[in-house]
Amino acid sequence: MVTLFEPLALRGVTLKNRIVVSPMCQYSSVDGFATDWHLVHLGSRAVGGAGLIISEAAAVSPEGRISPDDLGIWKDEHLHMLTRITAFLKSQGSVPGIQLAHAGRKASTYSPWKGEGHVPESEGGWQPVGPSALAFAPTYGTPHALDGPGLQKVIADFRAAAERALAAGFEVIELHAAHGYLLHEFLSPLSNHRTDEYGGTFENRIRLLLEVVAATREVWPAELPLIVRISVTDWTEGGWNADESVQLAAMLKVRGVDMIDCSTGGNVPKAPIPVGPGYQVQFAERIKQETGMLTGAVGLITTPAEAEAILTNGQADVVLLAREFLREPYFPLFAAHDLGVEMPWPVQYERAKPRAHVAAGPR
Ligand SMILES: Cc1cc2nc3c(=O)[nH]c(=O)nc-3n(C[C@H](O)[C@H](O)[C@H](O)COP(=O)(O)O)c2cc1C
Repeated sequence: MVTLFEPLALRGVTLKNRIVVSPMCQYSSVDGFATDWHLVHLGSRAVGGAGLIISEAAAVSPEGRISPDDLGIWKDEHLHMLTRITAFLKSQGSVPGIQLAHAGRKASTYSPWKGEGHVPESEGGWQPVGPSALAFAPTYGTPHALDGPGLQKVIADFRAAAERALAAGFEVIELHAAHGYLLHEFLSPLSNHRTDEYGGTFENRIRLLLEVVAATREVWPAELPLIVRISVTDWTEGGWNADESVQLAAMLKVRGVDMIDCSTGGNVPKAPIPVGPGYQVQFAERIKQETGMLTGAVGLITTPAEAEAILTNGQADVVLLAREFLREPYFPLFAAHDLGVEMPWPVQYERAKPRAHVAAGPR
């Protein structure tokens, strides 16, 4: 039995395999609208056989975009193209997921190929918001610290975005609480210097995330799964850490969250991250073992054998791949071949399917 190709039931949704397309910003939207690029990009990975495809960070408000070119889901007009995309992904047997996000103090930055750091208002940028008036780095804007009504708006924006995600046909929501974006900024004492009930103690720092989870669960149907992506550690003394992540995961488990997607870092420039093959898998393993929560492992997982080992060793329940999926949209089809699993190819591509005795070839 090859675990990578065992279906996984999450509430009322079944993934046909354990291979997940990790969210990846495409910086190819105008005013938040998905385009043909998104249809082809996500659609290709569905043709390639991924069990779950999680869209890039979709901003819940215009000021929650990382860049002016981010995908958005803050108005009903966004839904038309998103609905086309979810319909296509489903037609290929993939489950469509969406990552809901607010970039916080890392908002209003240039897309990677357009520049670096803060986009000024004269070029379509805006003033970012965050827990405290602390810039991420000198080239970033200094955020405006959110006040009570500002926080209520963030929560309401996530709730409304979840309603829209449902209307667009998504079947999984992933809340982005990682990589130094708004929800992570509240978790970490390095970015959260507040003295009110949203800062200071662990209970206060996790409050915003718990409120966003509750608001999302209010409108997200009980039969549909909810995932939260966290950065398990800031990799920095005095920052958010793995012990706190374990505690948080246990609390999310009883609040309707079905899986923790275990990433790390992003809240501290130049943190000493020991990047290497599967370098974050240990965190998915720890959270799974200590809380019983389902976990996703992500980060430099690039081969079918590595992916299979992570699952059979009980370190995680799914694997998420990002860059490998950019190199190889058909990763699941080839992984099945490599691992000796019979997996149907799209009928249109059937004639290219590698036969059992033929190596899959270079890719
Ligand atoms: C082009 C690109 C865009 C990304 N955008 C997002 C994003 O929108 N949301 C997110 O949580 N992570 C994002 N990431 C991080 C990936 O989801 C993933 O966690 C990371 O790349 C490590 O996995 P990998 O080694 O398989 O690439 C992005 C990564 C890449 C390469």
